[in-house]
Amino acid sequence: MSITAFAPATVANFGPGFDVLGIAIDGAGDTVTVKQGEHPGIHITAIHGDDGRLPTDPAKNTASIAARETLKAAGVEMSLEIEIHKGLPLCSGLGSSAASAAAAAFATNQLIGSPLRKPDLIGPCIEAEAAVSGRHADNVAPALLGGLVLVRSIDPPDLIRLPIPDGLTIVVVTPEHEIPTSQARSVLPAEVPMQTMVSSTAQIASLVSACYSSDLSLLSRCLTDEVVTPARIGLIPGGEAALGAALGAGALGASISGAGPSLFALCRSERSARSAAQAMQEAIAQAGPNSTVRISPANCAGVRRVKR
Ligand code: HSE
Repeated sequence: MSITAFAPATVANFGPGFDVLGIAIDGAGDTVTVKQGEHPGIHITAIHGDDGRLPTDPAKNTASIAARETLKAAGVEMSLEIEIHKGLPLCSGLGSSAASAAAAAFATNQLIGSPLRKPDLIGPCIEAEAAVSGRHADNVAPALLGGLVLVRSIDPPDLIRLPIPDGLTIVVVTPEHEIPTSQARSVLPAEVPMQTMVSSTAQIASLVSACYSSDLSLLSRCLTDEVVTPARIGLIPGGEAALGAALGAGALGASISGAGPSLFALCRSERSARSAAQAMQEAIAQAGPNSTVRISPANCAGVRRVKR
């Protein structure tokens, strides 16, 4: 018996919510198949779609680490064989490592009879993320649960699913340019002035309120981030211009997706999203790179079982 699961791409930070907000998007994602192995231990039998770049060492790949930690959390000992189909580009700000972890944790849990609930898989997925890109849950949480998730705490995990205003649409534009999360984290300031802390807290609190009240006008005022985005935007060719272009094309707000270089914009409708996407692509092209567009409803499902 084998179980195959799909986990979606995710947009972490969602504007002002560095390491605490993340949202799932539709379409692209990673697919992982897990089955009982013939040899002791956990083995990665194949990785497709990564051009041979990801480690097959089970101690270094987020899928196998998440599977191992899921077995541990369930108190089950079992040998596993894991096959990974990467649907997400690496180092692109789309939560690629988190998608592999979430799909592997979910498939492993189903293989052993689902002793754990989805929220119990957060801990195993955080361990996997910590091994490759830093200890944060703003990609793994929406990859598992779907929708927009607020991470109140990772130790112990405490996650809140936020409501999403009807019709809200998200555009993600991914330049052909890689930025490892470790590099994007290394440029962040070690200290934040008190006044910046005050305004950042107000932004996140207002954003949460806007989600509960479906107040798109308020939402459009609270997507800016004064700390992380200014430190990173220079790493993204055409990044600053693309964020401005999205707003000029009518987007409610725009920012960096996760560690970048992907950028996202929130829009009132799919039509508005298409205009924002075109404006963002043109701005990035002026700086050199080609880019790929993904347009998705903001309210998308998280990890699920699929047929192979
Ligand atoms: N919150 C993390 C960061 C997400 O921005 O570094 C990385 O995918």
